[in-house]
Amino acid sequence: MLVAQGLTKGFGGPPVVEDVSFTLARGAITGLIGPNGAGKTTLFNLLAGSLRPDRGTLALDGTRIEGRRPDEVFALGMARTFQIPRPFPAMTVLENVMLAPPGQQGERFWTNWLRPGAVAAEERRVRERALHWLDFVGLTRLAQEPARVLSGGQRKLLELARVLVAEPRLILLDEPGAGVAPPLLATIMEKIVALNAQGTSFLIIEHNMELVMSLCRPVLVLAQGKLLMEGEPEAVRADRRVVEAYLGAGIA
Ligand SMILES: Nc1ncnc2c1ncn2[C@@H]1O[C@H](COP(=O)(O)OP(=O)(O)O)[C@@H](O)[C@H]1O
Ligand SMILES: [Mg+2]
Repeated sequence: MLVAQGLTKGFGGPPVVEDVSFTLARGAITGLIGPNGAGKTTLFNLLAGSLRPDRGTLALDGTRIEGRRPDEVFALGMARTFQIPRPFPAMTVLENVMLAPPGQQGERFWTNWLRPGAVAAEERRVRERALHWLDFVGLTRLAQEPARVLSGGQRKLLELARVLVAEPRLILLDEPGAGVAPPLLATIMEKIVALNAQGTSFLIIEHNMELVMSLCRPVLVLAQGKLLMEGEPEAVRADRRVVEAYLGAGIA
């Protein structure tokens, strides 16, 4: 589904992502792990179009997407969530979902809004879809509350609903479990499984080993900007190089 070849990105110094190549299979929930600073979020930014690679190619279902803008990548069916979701705090939960996801809104969205007559119908349609996905993530009860009242875990669910409105085929999740209380984490994991059963593919950055071990297959390991290994979660967890990468980063 997604083929990355030789992706490289630096910020003036040595590359932060270096010669990274991998393939994501359609229908898979692929994990992406590695110590803090390994380059995981930067890799997401390269995939989703927030950063342009210095080198390398990227193809989504055969369409070359390296260097394309986030809204173009989004329109092609690949959406991402952010490590730290930042909903508009004064807007309601529903209004936040009705907005296109941050950094992903395209021109078409605004054109629709500017065309007289289409406005009301478009708003109704967007609202219905937003309500549907809010219900899916279990936030209907909070739809009319300002987003600022949401807990960290509820913000993750809000962000998931925001990207689901566009019904992407591939979703990149940046640490969906970080700062999330156990009951909500179970909900998030259930939603991922349910979406995957309906055909949505995932690439998930996560430190929570329970989530990675139970959901992700295969798992990619990034260390110091390079792809260290790819394998079944059990094999990855038992691999000496992976353990050493975490120890080297002072985290294990
Ligand atoms: N915009 C940027 N400018 C300079 N350095 C950056 C930038 N973004 C990330 N980095 C650096 O790249 C490295 C990898 O960061 P990141 O991709 O956030 O890692 P991870 O998500 O694996 O923790 C870090 O050393 C970080 O400081
Ligand atoms: Mg990160």
